[in-house]
Amino acid sequence: MDFMNTVKAALVTAALVLPVLPQTGLASSGGPPLPQEDWSFKGIFGQFDQAALKRGAKVTIEVCLGCHSIKYIKFDHLRQFGFTEAEVSEMAGGAGLTKQDKLVSGLAPADAKESFGLVPPDLSLMTKARKGYEDYTFAILTGYLTEEDTALVDAAKEDGTLSPEEITKLASALHMDPHHPEKIDEAVKRIANGDHFNKYFPGNFLAMPAPLSAGAVTYADGTEATVKQLAKDVTTFLAWAAEPTQTERKSTGHKVILYLIVLTAMLYAVKRRIWARVHH
Ligand code: HEC
Repeated sequence: MDFMNTVKAALVTAALVLPVLPQTGLASSGGPPLPQEDWSFKGIFGQFDQAALKRGAKVTIEVCLGCHSIKYIKFDHLRQFGFTEAEVSEMAGGAGLTKQDKLVSGLAPADAKESFGLVPPDLSLMTKARKGYEDYTFAILTGYLTEEDTALVDAAKEDGTLSPEEITKLASALHMDPHHPEKIDEAVKRIANGDHFNKYFPGNFLAMPAPLSAGAVTYADGTEATVKQLAKDVTTFLAWAAEPTQTERKSTGHKVILYLIVLTAMLYAVKRRIWARVHH
């Protein structure tokens, strides 16, 4: 009876302690707050959504691989979330590679430097490398000017000078600081010049042109390929690429925790039994 009560107490304690607080996304320093998505793989019971991983792998290979490598992952690794050997070989073939190859971009570093002024970073660890983690990657992919934003910028630059109302509107649409109209003015000029504006990139201008557009990839499962969907799937895939053993690590962790709880309860029961014989 005593023992059962101890076990119950231990389990109740575990139930209270285990669901750790969800991690909140950090905004990159000084920048606008990042959009917060629900990621199925976050938290100690989080799991990767296999369908999203398959879609994200397709986007990565068909779009991002044109410029970026994901050098820690081989095509063959993609079988871990449900692609068949034939599918993996076909995807590798499409990129001029074989299933034993790593996801290496066909863009030679020298050509990249010539086109962009720098070599696009490897994306293997990208979701871990930036403040804000996966929220940051998702934000960059969705942070380019929308059609409405572009219309606002076009209207604003027409007469050459920005009115106070235009400043206010642009500041809110582009997530810029309304207290620095000169920066907004400069941004409008650079946008007109063809530079790539992004609401979430530190400093707002980057060498990467908007990589995603609606319908860029045809999904095999019929999911509609909106920019947001593409961004979410590709980010899920990149989070997996940064830690492909997460699923195993978590399930081992859960078993270890359960084992420790049971062990603690048993040791406590034994201790009480032994000390019960000691009379004060
Ligand atoms: C046309 C070439 C090109 C394509 C296609 C492309 N990128 Fe990029 N990407 C770049 C370049 C160039 C940079 C470097 C930008 C800079 O630092 O100014 C970059 C940078 C990035 C960054 C890093 C931003 C930072 O904080 O340093 C991320 C994240 C990124 N790309 C994700 C992606 C994803 C995901 C895809 C596929 C959906 C993709 N890119 C497709 C060229 C490309």
